[in-house]
Amino acid sequence: MSILKQVEIDLTKMVQQLGYTIEKINLQPSGRPELGEFQINEAFQLGKENHCNPREIAEKITTELEKDGRFQNINIAGAGFINISFTEEFYKQSLIEMQKGIENSIDKEPKKKIIIDYGGANVAKTLHVGHLRSANIGEALKRLAKKLGCDVIADAHLGDSGLQSGMVVSEMKERYPELICFQENYQGEDFDLPITNEDLSIIYPEASRKAKANEDKMEEARELTLEIQKGHPGYNALWNKIKDLSLIDIRRIYQDLNTSFDLWEGELDSFAYIPDMLKELEEKHLLEISEGATIMDIREETDKKEMPPIILVKGNGGYIYETTDLATIYGRMKRFQPDEIWYLADNRQDLHFRQVFRASNKAKFTTEATKLEFIGFGTMNGPDGKPFKTRDGGVMTLGSLIDLVNEETTKRLNPMITDPEEKKQIAKMIAISALKYADLLPYRATDYVFEPSKFADLEGKTGPYLLYSTIRMKSLLRKAKENGYETYEVKKLKNDTDKNVLLTLISLPKVLKKAFDTKSLNDITEFLYKLTSTYNKFYSENHILTSKDEELKTTWLAMTEVVCKTNLFLLDILGISVPEKM
Ligand code: ARG
Repeated sequence: MSILKQVEIDLTKMVQQLGYTIEKINLQPSGRPELGEFQINEAFQLGKENHCNPREIAEKITTELEKDGRFQNINIAGAGFINISFTEEFYKQSLIEMQKGIENSIDKEPKKKIIIDYGGANVAKTLHVGHLRSANIGEALKRLAKKLGCDVIADAHLGDSGLQSGMVVSEMKERYPELICFQENYQGEDFDLPITNEDLSIIYPEASRKAKANEDKMEEARELTLEIQKGHPGYNALWNKIKDLSLIDIRRIYQDLNTSFDLWEGELDSFAYIPDMLKELEEKHLLEISEGATIMDIREETDKKEMPPIILVKGNGGYIYETTDLATIYGRMKRFQPDEIWYLADNRQDLHFRQVFRASNKAKFTTEATKLEFIGFGTMNGPDGKPFKTRDGGVMTLGSLIDLVNEETTKRLNPMITDPEEKKQIAKMIAISALKYADLLPYRATDYVFEPSKFADLEGKTGPYLLYSTIRMKSLLRKAKENGYETYEVKKLKNDTDKNVLLTLISLPKVLKKAFDTKSLNDITEFLYKLTSTYNKFYSENHILTSKDEELKTTWLAMTEVVCKTNLFLLDILGISVPEKM
């Protein structure tokens, strides 16, 4: 359990012993640091509930607090805000606790089974910056949930059943009519795909352009999509091969982004559940036919705004995004019985998920206890504040964005690193840190501006600043080891600069909890910056390795070690790896 949580439990008991009914006393980081490090605001609530003056209650509480050796500078501000600070002894004990390992000094969540649906790459299409956000946020939430003790299943949920399948197959038919899969008597024979990934990156945009320009082409694409959905042997064989080819690139990019999935399933995998799902909906009398389509009414009495019905089968018998998402829930509940399913997608998919979740609850595919959560994110914009474009005005693909940041980080690389292969590898790691940190810095649902040169900088709230600082901590610890220091005894603190580092450190569990509750990483990225800059201030004020005071020196080394491990722990949650040098 975390140190702060233990203190909160003790405080709660203490207040209960004073005769008050209260569930929990919270230690809030102080809004006015000059008055204390933390504040306790519950006197107000207690005053209201017990019909008495909050200040009187605050006074009773502070009298008790005075008896507890962990606190100092106890005072009451305003009508009943209690301010407290911790003693040096408390901080030293906390540091000793944290030396035992970060995993032990954080607070676990109740163990739950969570499926996280993120990534969402679309087969045969290029990944764009929206997919970057889904991968970054989803991967970090997965890692956070795991660290906090949850069972997590990560599913890439590939987009593979949409209109792009018909478009691509149509274009392939035009280019390679002789392919065996197009022959009428196709018997499932194997064949070689005559295209490369590079060809594919041209084929889809070309096919899409043609279909948009020509209604017949569009109709053909729709028909082919339907054939694929129905399992046409030849078209499916071809589409599966295209999927494998496309996945080579998709997997590489996810790997570059330190993103990994337990399941690489897609929309098409949900097709196995569609017949049973529709049957069950039919039996529950939840389906209606409207203008040829099969729909489900999902309105609720309390609705203030109009809620359109969810379409499950189109007039032509085809399935859509709603069908596959509902069938995916149906399948996931049967296979995994998760407590929660989290979905990462652009804010604009909000209505889609509300519809699907409502349908699932109404059909009782999920119970009251199952939490389906849409975790929407905002857009990453270019420096002009508009959706990111390439220099020549084209759509910014994820690959080209990574290249762009890579250019920036290569410029700033330490000139002492000369080996070309090493240079390339390190620049890439720094680029990923720049990209990920910037992407996880704002609250996830807000749009933000990504400026490659700003976020590649070694100063400020950037990934490279954190990497650089962490590497420096590591190297300091290495040197200490070379000088014979193996374990670092916590003896004494020098001043407020040291104390501020520890004060920041003990708040970590609260930061993790907030990130988990809000499903946003911004508190973690902010915390990393705060901890690192507070540590760097301490580092620049003190000469740790050459200090003549052994007691300070070992305490400082202990602090350095815990800060370094905390940084590595948090960077790992964010999916950022740290090079040995940069
Ligand atoms: N493929 C979708 C897209 O590119 C994202 C998928 C999100 N997940 C889901 N279960 N619908 O927008």
